[in-house]
Amino acid sequence: MLLQRVKPLERILAEGGDESKGEGLKKTLGAGSLMAMGIGAIIGTGIFVLTGVAAATRAGPALTISFIVAGIVSAFAALCYSEVASRIPIAGSAYTFAYASLGEFIAWIIGWDLVLEYALGAATVSIGWSGYFVTFLKNVFGIVIPPSLQQSYWEQATSGAIVHGTGFINLPAFLIICLIGVLLYRGTRESALVNNIIVVVKLAIVLFFIALGLGHVNTGNWTPYFPFGWTGMLGGAAFIFFAYIGFDAVSTAAEETKNPSRDLPIGIIGSLAVCTVLYIIVVAILTGMVPYKLLNVASPVAFAMDHVGMGWASAIISLGALAGLTTVLLVMMFGQTRVFFAMSRDGLLPAVFSKLHPKFRTPGLSTIIFTIFIASIAAFTPIGIVGSLTNMGTLIAFILVSIALPIIRKRYPNTRGFSVPFGPYLIPVLSALTAAGLIFSLKFGSPVWFGLPAPWLGFLVWLVVGLFLYFLYGRNNSTVGKEEAAG
Ligand code: ALA
Repeated sequence: MLLQRVKPLERILAEGGDESKGEGLKKTLGAGSLMAMGIGAIIGTGIFVLTGVAAATRAGPALTISFIVAGIVSAFAALCYSEVASRIPIAGSAYTFAYASLGEFIAWIIGWDLVLEYALGAATVSIGWSGYFVTFLKNVFGIVIPPSLQQSYWEQATSGAIVHGTGFINLPAFLIICLIGVLLYRGTRESALVNNIIVVVKLAIVLFFIALGLGHVNTGNWTPYFPFGWTGMLGGAAFIFFAYIGFDAVSTAAEETKNPSRDLPIGIIGSLAVCTVLYIIVVAILTGMVPYKLLNVASPVAFAMDHVGMGWASAIISLGALAGLTTVLLVMMFGQTRVFFAMSRDGLLPAVFSKLHPKFRTPGLSTIIFTIFIASIAAFTPIGIVGSLTNMGTLIAFILVSIALPIIRKRYPNTRGFSVPFGPYLIPVLSALTAAGLIFSLKFGSPVWFGLPAPWLGFLVWLVVGLFLYFLYGRNNSTVGKEEAAG
């Protein structure tokens, strides 16, 4: 059963339409636009928010090394995604790759698991957005949002434990998700132009921080370098891995790419490389500007500027971060509805998820359902918990894509595309093993529930629910299954 019901590649490719007949999505994207898309999806809450929490509670100044470690894990995965996406250049990402290689059961698990990456990822980003929004209102307009309305009821204390703090509901996070939901419902897809502008703004803000911050580094703040030891550094890497999520989103544009075997690897690996270098510099400067213990705040990059007496720079950074985080939210919520769209079209989920709005031609009902789901999580959950669970889900998807790679090469020897160096095993095995290492490291710094670190437990519960649904619904309604039964 495990590897049964492989969706034939010819059929997957046919769903993309015949370009010579003007069918399917238009092939307009080149390497440059893909890189911009990747950077737009990558730079977000990870670097602007989680760095602070991670430095203060998990890694200390060694967070710079954490970023190198997580960057290496991501690089292996990026190579695998590049190969798989260029051989199967069809929208749908990891879910589609798995359906063509590992069969329906694993495809279902990936699709279900991607909810953790996209929906919980969006919730995490919105909580980060809220932190900068609150800072911006306070510093620029003197408006103070009451504590009960700017944080969830539960908070993660420095010790990692979950406690009741000063908050009740994270209202800004709730509202920004609703706003993005409305935009997506009406069919606003971020246009390439808007995305490019925001990418430039984001890069400018990061460079601005580097340029101003460099002069305020006090190397004394780097000692002790490993206040939480090696496990703290690894726990930090597993936590800020969130900052790298998003390069895989480039693979969802595979179907619209002019020359997939060349442009996809450049887009995926290029965007990751740019962000990795910037991240490492930013984190070294941030931990040099502010003693790590003070960084457990909602908007650490802006806070660092305030800390060295540059309030004006803090306001500029907050504004840039708000714009930048908004596009990450769009990408993630868009991705979520489209993965469920593909699964529903395959019969694995009820038809509501692929039902199009008569006027806007978007999956309207699905957008409403996910908006309510994500907004409720964002309103009531601490960022550390949703962020770690997002990482857990994404790392599992990375492992499954790495396993799919050699199978796809073997099953479809005639597909052309980018090939990872050193044969079909070395890089995928390294990718899967290092991702598993980060999953293991998620336990350092996470609260323990029922004897398990929270992100592991959360994932297991989600998986069990998913398996239950598959056997209750998807397995009996799958189009591929019905076709196979009909011979
Ligand atoms: N990497 C993205 C972020 O940090 C998801 O917001």
